[in-house]
Amino acid sequence: MFILLCLLHLQYVESKVIYFLPHSHDDVGWLDTVWNIYDNGPGVKNIISSYSTALSKDSGRRFVQVETIYFKKWYEEQDIETKQMINKLIINGQLEFAAGGWSMNDEATTYYEDIIDSFTGGHTYLYEQFRIIPRVGWQIDPFGHSSTFAYISYMMGMDGQYFARIDQIDKSERLKNKNLEFIWNPKPGIELFCHINYRHYSSPPGFDFDPLRSSPEIQSNQVNQKANQLLEYFGQQANYYKGETIVHTLGDDNEWSSAESYYKNIEKLIDNINQKNGTQQIHFSTPHQYLKRLNQQNLQYSVKFDDFFPYSDNHQSYWTGYYTSRISFKGYVRQLSKEFQQIKTFLSKQISYDNIKDEDELLQLLSNHNQNMGIVQHHDAITGTAKQFVNDDYIKLLQQSSTLLDQYMRKHVSILTEQLLEYKNYEYHTCYYNKTISECKQLDVWLNQNKTVLLALLMNQNRIIKLPVPNLHYTVLDENNISLNYTLLCDNQDCVLYFIIDEDNIEETQFYKIIPSIDKHPFNTKRIQISINDDTDLSTILNNQTKTNNTFKLTYAYYVSSSDYRQPSGAYIFRPDGQLNPYGNIINSSIHYDDIVTELIIKRNDVTTKIRKYKHLQDEYEIETFLDSIEFINKSGKEIVMLIDTDIENNDTFYTDSNGLDLQKRVKNYRETFNLIDTEPVSQNYYPVTNMILLNQTNGQTVAIINDRSQGGTSLKKGQIELMIHRRIGTDDRRGVGEALKEDIDDPKCQKTNTCNNKKGISQTLFHQLVFFQNTQDPNKARKIQLREDMIALKYFAEDFFSKFNIQKNKVIPQSYLDEIVVLDEDSISKIRIEPKQQYFIVRIHNLQEVGIIDFQLPKSVQYYQTTMNGLMTIEEWQSTKLNWQTLNKTKTQIQVNSFQVQPQFISTFIILR
Ligand SMILES: *[C@@H]1O[C@H](CO)[C@@H](O)[C@H](O)[C@H]1NC(C)=O
Ligand SMILES: *[C@@H]1O[C@H](CO)[C@@H](O)[C@H](O)[C@H]1NC(C)=O
Ligand SMILES: *[C@@H]1O[C@H](CO)[C@@H](O)[C@H](O)[C@H]1NC(C)=O
Ligand SMILES: *[C@@H]1O[C@H](CO)[C@@H](O)[C@H](O)[C@H]1NC(C)=O
Ligand SMILES: *[C@@H]1O[C@H](CO)[C@@H](O)[C@H](O)[C@H]1NC(C)=O
Ligand SMILES: *[C@@H]1O[C@H](CO)[C@@H](O)[C@H](O)[C@H]1NC(C)=O
Ligand SMILES: *[C@@H]1O[C@H](CO)[C@@H](O)[C@H](O)[C@H]1NC(C)=O
Repeated sequence: MFILLCLLHLQYVESKVIYFLPHSHDDVGWLDTVWNIYDNGPGVKNIISSYSTALSKDSGRRFVQVETIYFKKWYEEQDIETKQMINKLIINGQLEFAAGGWSMNDEATTYYEDIIDSFTGGHTYLYEQFRIIPRVGWQIDPFGHSSTFAYISYMMGMDGQYFARIDQIDKSERLKNKNLEFIWNPKPGIELFCHINYRHYSSPPGFDFDPLRSSPEIQSNQVNQKANQLLEYFGQQANYYKGETIVHTLGDDNEWSSAESYYKNIEKLIDNINQKNGTQQIHFSTPHQYLKRLNQQNLQYSVKFDDFFPYSDNHQSYWTGYYTSRISFKGYVRQLSKEFQQIKTFLSKQISYDNIKDEDELLQLLSNHNQNMGIVQHHDAITGTAKQFVNDDYIKLLQQSSTLLDQYMRKHVSILTEQLLEYKNYEYHTCYYNKTISECKQLDVWLNQNKTVLLALLMNQNRIIKLPVPNLHYTVLDENNISLNYTLLCDNQDCVLYFIIDEDNIEETQFYKIIPSIDKHPFNTKRIQISINDDTDLSTILNNQTKTNNTFKLTYAYYVSSSDYRQPSGAYIFRPDGQLNPYGNIINSSIHYDDIVTELIIKRNDVTTKIRKYKHLQDEYEIETFLDSIEFINKSGKEIVMLIDTDIENNDTFYTDSNGLDLQKRVKNYRETFNLIDTEPVSQNYYPVTNMILLNQTNGQTVAIINDRSQGGTSLKKGQIELMIHRRIGTDDRRGVGEALKEDIDDPKCQKTNTCNNKKGISQTLFHQLVFFQNTQDPNKARKIQLREDMIALKYFAEDFFSKFNIQKNKVIPQSYLDEIVVLDEDSISKIRIEPKQQYFIVRIHNLQEVGIIDFQLPKSVQYYQTTMNGLMTIEEWQSTKLNWQTLNKTKTQIQVNSFQVQPQFISTFIILR
């Protein structure tokens, strides 16, 4: 008996089963627009039709479908027979959905809430249509992998994840040590199985039978030889993986539009190999089938803790430029994202108050915008690595769906105004984020016409409200007709009104009146010219009556983009040519003091900086940077950085966030899991700063910057934060996009004279929040600012016909079960996000704190249950079906919490039935 078992075991180990994964990598926009890629060329439309027909002809065939935005479009265009065929293919396991978000999102420049939304949208569609939930991740093209993405994938119920691109040194070490499969443990309790593909995401060389690449069709007299060649290839591959099953992709970009002949060629080889009665068997399979098979083998895997940034595919080639590329697009997407999160929670409550009449229309608008937001999370969209006309198309898509949603919101605010104030037929406008700055045209028009403006603020959690206004005198009234303190800060004729609202005003809908007076404000515009230089400590200037320990300097500098033929800088890759050069000389500076804010304006050539220190906020500085067009020097581009110098002794260590969550420790010229070869002293030290970068020293003294869009960043000198805030480049980096990142626009000056260049670069206004704190005393301070910046107020304004509010004796404030969702510690740094669906609400409680579990409460009167992050599986369902993996070394210790608690940097998801 004993001997027999051993023999069986031996045979089991020696034989190899080879799984082929037929897939098509369909970029959701890149070299062409999203919907052209669907329609034209091989066309995703034809690809899906082709593979599904081929699948239906032979039950041994398999296919992996990934981008749900494309599949949904295709499915909606099919007749009933085709739909039935698809359902059959799904049920019998021939067609498997991997990943299943709207697009295959980037992992460096995306914010965590947008990733969650893209998955939730795609998965909900697949579930409603086919009753399936993808259980395997498929991130075979993104340029680096984030801890937060691993966390989100795990919480979506993924049993494992496939990657292709990791740092080339890391890959060669993993090959050597049979570590291409491992467990990723980015944070306590999250243990995601990862598989790194053997050869990118292509077919074995010589075995790609798609018309796009077309290995020659296999003739009958070649079958045996080709089969042996294939077996030899897999024999090599088998040396690098631990399991008795090996897996390989079959396909590439936009392949499988001639699926029948692709399958047929491969089948000739499969039949030949399988008939040999050798130890090798080969089949078409799916990513999840492979995971299940591997999981049964009870192998043990090494554990990885840190993330996969930065990505490099060559000693000269660090893909760290795309962290910053296309600043205006990145800013626009982040702004829309913040608004969308607020709108969804707001409307959920309105639904629960029974205050929404045309709910189907509303859910449709939300769903459309969710899809477009999902599209732009694609790894060639938000990254800034698509062609210019494709990027313009992304903006158009976003404008379409956000404008429709905005129209709905404006109508709804008008209804609320009637309900709450008894003002009838108010027509609302809103501010638009244009390419340069937020713009509120109609507000300007009305105020200039001496008209009172009614301002409705939804979801406001901020004490300071800012509005761009004309240079006039104003009265600002709250609903009790109390005149609020305000200030007007002008830079020439561009003025911004800042007013402070009561800390206790936490109502979801707040109204204010802005009443102009033609008299110019006598003192507000008063500025004192001061003299500063790049070495001036700005903290002492901004806090001239208080003592602080925060010393900081702010300068701008640039790298010349390398145009070296071996590796030029481009949309993906950042490769500087030499050291930093100063950018912009100080022309003049002025300061303004009042009871609300101190504002320092520093004008340089090409850069205007406004630094604000609000009276009620200690040790915090708001830095607004206006960047004018970057000019080329002899066709070479420039990459502009902002440098903040502090006294912090950070010992070559700094921290950057992961999609807005968990801070990742970074050490200059060092990698946690492999031996870095020092080839690109600047670029190899750049990391994605999606939301935050932080330095600290042993006594806890800390500085952090919270940004308003994704950027690349590092710390190369003691106490210095370096953030790349813009780049304009004259070369392509040869990673496929085939365009230089110029972002040309017409130079308005050229219409008047013929002497200037016809094109210039874009200009942009950026915001950074700079904060100093004691990490040991107040570890959540930077997170508090992140929260404040996320919870932006939705602003709507209308021409007002009354100069005072009616004091309302019994203003009815609606209440519903959704208002009973509360985090118990009011001061905790947390978010409650609610998303409406037809039958239920998805409620997510985010604990943004670095330290401290939060406790929350759910409504007593309604039915709810805890789910995976997409809201589609109960925790029990997930736990009972998930694959568990064995690790060779110890994983991070888990904190025990109950289901009404959330650990720091975790999110809990619940379904509340309606
Ligand atoms: C392979 O084995 C099967 C039965 O085990 C047998 O019927 C078949 O003839 C064999 N084929 C070859 C090519 O040896
Ligand atoms: C955006 O708004 C700013 C400020 O009003 C204006 O100067 C700029 O021309 C606008 N840009 C575009 C592209 O509309
Ligand atoms: C502006 O409007 C106010 C109130 O409607 C009025 O008292 C005032 O005279 C107006 N001023 C001008 C210059 O029109
Ligand atoms: C306005 O500022 C003054 C002086 O700082 C203060 O006394 C007053 O309470 C403030 N008013 C409001 C409504 O905040
Ligand atoms: C310090 O600030 C006050 C206003 O708070 C201002 O009047 C004064 O001029 C400032 N002093 C210097 C030296 O800048
Ligand atoms: C400055 O730092 C010292 C020592 O770290 C500390 O005792 C003091 O309270 C700090 N002062 C301020 C104003 O933060
Ligand atoms: C600085 O970092 C090095 C290596 O990361 C470490 O060995 C050393 O203890 C650190 N020094 C301080 C003062 O933290």
